[in-house]
Amino acid sequence: MKLTIDTKGGTLSVEDGSCPRQLDLYSRESFEQIARLWTDIGWVRKYSYGFAWMGRPIIQLPDDMMRIQETVFTTKPDVIVETGVAHGGSLLYYASLFELMGNGRVIGIDIEIRPHNRTAIEAHPLFKRVTLVEGNAVAAETVAMVKSMIKPDEKVMLILDSNHSKDHVAKELAAYADLVTPGCYLLVQDGIMHYVAGMPRTGDDWSWNNPISATEEFLAKHTEFEPVRVPRPFDETQDTPDCTHHPKGWLRRK
Ligand SMILES: C[S@@+](CC[C@H](N)C(=O)[O-])C[C@H]1O[C@@H](n2cnc3c(N)ncnc32)[C@H](O)[C@@H]1O
Repeated sequence: MKLTIDTKGGTLSVEDGSCPRQLDLYSRESFEQIARLWTDIGWVRKYSYGFAWMGRPIIQLPDDMMRIQETVFTTKPDVIVETGVAHGGSLLYYASLFELMGNGRVIGIDIEIRPHNRTAIEAHPLFKRVTLVEGNAVAAETVAMVKSMIKPDEKVMLILDSNHSKDHVAKELAAYADLVTPGCYLLVQDGIMHYVAGMPRTGDDWSWNNPISATEEFLAKHTEFEPVRVPRPFDETQDTPDCTHHPKGWLRRK
């Protein structure tokens, strides 16, 4: 793909294998092309590794954080189950939203919670809304422990952000998707792997070995879930493209 930006002439020229075309630089399509590239290069450059939430590193694109906030506020889950804790920033972000909303707690699962991360997470003022579970997210004992922590009448949202291989995501979907309450969301993170395949810092097999492949196979068998564009409570222009690391990642339980 070759993009040529002419700021003076106000055009974007696109050569992507199909017929070369020249777009108005300020059109939706130009914005979408540039946003896609910005997001993909940002992924390669680890742009999302440059933010912290209330003192803890959070490995998320701020746009994605806002979409999650919108969804959490709209659906008001009692529990968010998240696989993949790392430094704890995302857990504490969801805990903060719940603190402001006056209800809700987070269960975070990670195969390895490093001692310095655990110490910092446990010392955080919002830890009162967090439960840490250390273990392989797809091990039977981990799944059983997490499920035992959730009461039958609690509303649950699920976020998958641990190992992003197709096989692992498929196993997490098989293990945890039934926790999601009808009307709530399941977010399969990092579908961007499919789009950045071939760029620096990517694996040779990422074109297929990614969360989107697992999600598509899951959806074919689980019609109780529908893929959705994450709803926007406020969207004045109605046609802004998504800047996201989680394309095709939002599923709604019907
Ligand atoms: C991308 S990081 C999580 C980032 C975090 N959710 C955030 O937004 O800041 C991925 C984490 O998944 C964990 N992980 C990898 N494989 C796992 C597995 N099989 N089960 C549970 N956690 C796993 C890693 O240890 C790592 O901490």
